Amino acid sequence: PVAAPRKGPVLDETLPLLLDPYRFIGDRARRLGSDVFETRLMLRRTVCMTGAEAAELFYDPELFVRHGAAPRRLQVTLFGRNGVQALDGEIHLARKAMFMSLMGREGRDRLTELAGRHWRERISQWERMPQVVLYEEVSRLLCQAAGEWTGVPLPPARVPAVTATIQAAIEGAGGLGARYLRGRYARIKGDLWLSGLIRCARDNPRRFDDTVTGLIARYRDPGGALLPVRTAAVELHNVLRPTVAVARFVTFAAMALHANPEHYERIREGDEPFVEHFVQEVRRFYPFFPFVAAKVARPFTWHGEHFPEGRRTLLDLHGIDHDPRLWDRPDEFRPERFAEWDGGEYDFVPQGGGDHYEGHRCPGEWLTIDLMKLAVTALTRWMTYRVPAQDLRMPPWRAPAIPNSRFVIDQVAAG
Ligand code: HEM
Repeated sequence: PVAAPRKGPVLDETLPLLLDPYRFIGDRARRLGSDVFETRLMLRRTVCMTGAEAAELFYDPELFVRHGAAPRRLQVTLFGRNGVQALDGEIHLARKAMFMSLMGREGRDRLTELAGRHWRERISQWERMPQVVLYEEVSRLLCQAAGEWTGVPLPPARVPAVTATIQAAIEGAGGLGARYLRGRYARIKGDLWLSGLIRCARDNPRRFDDTVTGLIARYRDPGGALLPVRTAAVELHNVLRPTVAVARFVTFAAMALHANPEHYERIREGDEPFVEHFVQEVRRFYPFFPFVAAKVARPFTWHGEHFPEGRRTLLDLHGIDHDPRLWDRPDEFRPERFAEWDGGEYDFVPQGGGDHYEGHRCPGEWLTIDLMKLAVTALTRWMTYRVPAQDLRMPPWRAPAIPNSRFVIDQVAAG
């Protein structure tokens, strides 16, 4: 039920948001008995929304736009400036089509094959290591595969440093103090490095002919102009960074396999449909992006509430994936639920909602699923390992979330 939102000035709630980013919107919405409410975040009046109906509203491009919507702290760490996330209208559709052109079966298979090769190589290295920090290792192997896939030259010796820079840009988004500053620095460093590469691709088009780097370097907006070098670098980062970020979901998948030995057995024994359901449930269950931000494009009224032009609005992604009206016993990890899921665009939104081509929904969603299936296959069928005692807690204030130990394994053996 959508009741009229709470109105009027309230105290700034930035601190409660930072302390519990995944539950902030959902908890308040339940307490207020309304799927939409207004608050003040970073001193700005902000509307928060949850539920599938709100998601459908949020992804209507006539009502909400992205230009200037993302908080500055996200622009200078996670997203970079002037990338596809901040575009609207025709220019967004065209730029989005470029990203979607990478996500056909062939492109995805190529990356999955490269990643598979690196999984095999790493497993044989892990056999010789006393302990393996899975999150770190998988981040690196995905970085290596993403480098090869995109044509970004990445000698093996540079992989740990480049992975660390990419991770810092992701971590900085939700961090305070040092974590935030490291994120800003990593973003500047990453953009400079990739700007150099875009220049190189423009000077040597044949060398980058068939690569993602070449495609982005050559890309022209509907006006006909090449992207400014810095913007092209941001878009290349927009492919590399989230591919490395899939390591978080892989870590969550490893946690879920550990917590549910019966799922581990079922997958190890070759139940293919279950692999897909398991991966989907990992994406639903574990916290990654708490919410997304947009701005009201033109004034409108919804359920009796007036949305003035320019009002910042947050959509509760994590809350929708845990909404008891949409998911039976949402706080239980039950992959079987996806055997019956009807593929709705607005009820399962770990990577955004709506249409991939028309709106801002993550273009990398299918790729993420492919890479996660590969990882789950590798973890269950290509290797055995032990999970020693460790601190797997995830502090509620930490977004994006990650277990304290980063998931340690030992006694790794191939096969
Ligand atoms: C957008 C999540 C993987 C590229 C998004 C959005 C979310 C998201 C929540 C915003 C949706 C919105 O604004 O409405 C994730 C998660 C991933 C992931 C949790 C798992 C690691 C990927 C991959 C790629 C990618 C693998 C590319 C290789 C992008 C791009 C956008 C985006 C370019 C901006 C799209 C737009 O604004 O139109 N992602 N993503 N993501 N993602 Fe992902």
